[in-house]
This record gives sequence, structure tokens and C-alpha cells, in this order.
Amino acid sequence: MNRIVGTGMAVPPCVVDNHLLSRCMNTSDEWIVQRTGIRERRVSPDTYRMLQRLAEAPDKAAFMKSVFADGLDGKIDSSMTVSDLALQASERALENAGLTARDVDCLVVSSTVPDFAYPHPGCVLAGRLALTSTPAICLQQGCAGFVYGLAIADQMMRGGMYRQVLVVGAELLSTIFDYTDAGRDMAVLFADGAGAAVLRAEPGPRGVLSSHLHTDGTTYEGLSGEIWGTSTYPPVSKRKFDEDRMRPRMNGRQVFVQAVRHFKEVVGECLAANGVGIGDVNRFIFHQANMRIIEAVGEGLRIPSDRLYNNVERYGNTAAASVPIALHEAREAGLVKDGDLVLLAAFGTGFSWGATLIRW
Ligand code: UT7
Repeated sequence: MNRIVGTGMAVPPCVVDNHLLSRCMNTSDEWIVQRTGIRERRVSPDTYRMLQRLAEAPDKAAFMKSVFADGLDGKIDSSMTVSDLALQASERALENAGLTARDVDCLVVSSTVPDFAYPHPGCVLAGRLALTSTPAICLQQGCAGFVYGLAIADQMMRGGMYRQVLVVGAELLSTIFDYTDAGRDMAVLFADGAGAAVLRAEPGPRGVLSSHLHTDGTTYEGLSGEIWGTSTYPPVSKRKFDEDRMRPRMNGRQVFVQAVRHFKEVVGECLAANGVGIGDVNRFIFHQANMRIIEAVGEGLRIPSDRLYNNVERYGNTAAASVPIALHEAREAGLVKDGDLVLLAAFGTGFSWGATLIRW
């Protein structure tokens, strides 16, 4: 079996509460807490500096437009990239497992917005870990990225290809949103962070029991971003920017309904495949999309609320990073113990979703 033997996480030091967002766009702490359960989130130092300036700007739309056109204070180089967070989370997970990067046979990374269009952030992370021949695989699997990454790593290990794999979910999503009224539906939800886990092949009954993955590609427009994609020619143009096509788009209602439905389905599928019931699972760690989604799934499946680990209140939705961050925190808090059954589940862009059951 393939067991998680180390976890780690990293979030930027800059905390943005709902009150700061309320000074940038037409929203309120009450609206955000009631609809999402989020009170604060972590963002890159660049986003943080930008938000402080936006809060003071008399014409928010003009200021945000000037940031997308010219950067902040005349600079467009970032002070933090997604691989900075991936590196910190990976180093902590490796240390937690008592390993160094050289002990790992493969990296599986998922990231929505990379450092560069290419090579992918797995390669950048490998370089920053000073790895010169360890294979690095990258998924762009959105919020389901860690669950997908874990399933792929587990299957490669079951096939005998690798013995120790580092799985990472890292995001720097705050850098792509419009923090004025135009982008408020998404800007209040998403944030930055990274989480990592080391999976090791070991004899015995502990480890990943099964993984279940799905994608409905017919619904991809419900949560998508053109940004630098080839949906336009050329992929990046002034016109794309002027026509406001550089910004991610979401149909919040559609995402909500689909998320609740597919979370419930895939949790049921995962439990049935292992011949266990809700009551047998000691800890449910769901993608921290939104507290209302988690509550709807919890109520629908009759999961006792004390079996769910949630931290969306403090970090918002960190997409691929949210499940490994929650797993790391739950583990640190002693809420995941040896022998426990732990169920991870996630849903996100694609739409893609999945669940994994682990005997800890
Ligand atoms: O990993 C998956 C990530 N995505 C999600 O988890 C999103 C899932 N969807 C949701 O959580 C909810 O749909 C939202 C929280 C995004 C929105 O809640 P809702 O109850 O579905 O609101 P709504 O979309 O029906 O919008 C209600 C109103 C609209 O105003 P009008 O048209 O009724 O005048 C929105 O413009 O709320 C407005 N609104 C906001 N108001 C204040 C949208 N965003 C905001 C905001 N602050 N940030």
C-alpha cells in the first residue's frame, strides 16, 4: 500500500480580511461570510500591495485597469511566484517525512496558474529542489488537482514504477482577478497557498485504498479563464485586455449545484467501492470551496459536522492547495490518527471531481 508519510503547507504572510475587500469593491463582510463562510485569506505580497492602493483609489475601475496595463508602481515583475509556495510546502513535507528531495522518485504537481506558460511549475519546482533527473509531472486540474495527483501517484506506485512520490497542489490565484465590482463574484472566493504530501510504498494495510475520478467536459465554461489561452489569436493581445477577456469567469449558481451533486455522488462511489459507510469514516477532508457547499454535502450525506475538517474561514478557496493544506492542518491538530479512515474529495473547473479513501 502507498501511505502518506509526510505533509507540509505554505501560505503567504499577507492576510486580507473581508473589510479590506469591502473597500475595493461593492461587497461586505456580512455578504461574504453568509454566502461563503470566508473571513480572511492569504494573498501574494503583490496582490496585497495592490489591494491597499485600490482601497484608497477614488476611481477603482481606472486604477485596476492601470494595474493590468502597467503593473504596480511601474513594475511588472512578481515578488512571489507559485513555485515559491510549492517549494516551501514541499520542503516542509519532505522534512516531515524525514526525507530530502533526492529520496523522491517523482514529483506530481497541480497548479492552475503557473510561473511560466512553459515549462510547467513541476519543472520549476524540480529545479528549485536541485533535482536534475527526477521526473516531474504537472496537472492543471484546478480544485481537484491534489486528489487527481494523489491518484496518479498511487497508480504509478502500484504499478511498481516508483516507491516514493511527492504530490503538490500550489496556487497563486489572487494575481489574476479583478478586485473591483466587475470581478467581485470570484475575487472574494479564491486565494493563494500550497500543500504537499509524500507518498511511500510500504507493506501493510495502511495507505490509499482507492481513488475515483471524473470530468464532465461539456460544462467547462462554467468556470474558466481565457487569460493567455489559444481561444484567441494571438493568445495575448491588447484587444483581449481591452475587451476584458483576460479575466476568469464563473457561473456561481451552476458551480454550486454541480459541486454539491458530484461531491455527494463521488463520496458515495468511494465508500461503496470499499464496502464502508459514512459512519466508518473518521475524517472527511473536502476541497474548501465554500462553506455552504461543504454544509450542503455534509447535510445531504448525514456526515456528523465534527468529522469534517474545515479551514475555508481562514484561507478561502486555494484550489489545488486546499485539500493538502486542510490535510496537513488536521494532521498537525491530531485529528487524523493512525488507523483512521480518511476521505478526501474535491470538485472544480472542468468540471473535474474525485475522491480518495485512505487508511491512515
Ligand atoms: O472550487 C469551486 C469554486 N467556486 C465556488 O465554490 C462557487 C460556487 N458558487 C457560490 O458559492 C455562489 O454561487 C456565490 C457565493 C459565488 C454567489 O452566491 P449566490 O447566492 O449564488 O449569489 P448569486 O450568484 O445568485 O448572486 C446574488 C447577487 C447578485 O446580484 P444581483 O444580480 O442579484 O443584483 C450578484 O451580483 O449577489 C451579487 N454578488 C455579490 N454581492 C456582494 C456577487 N458577488 C458578490 C460579492 N459581494 N462578492
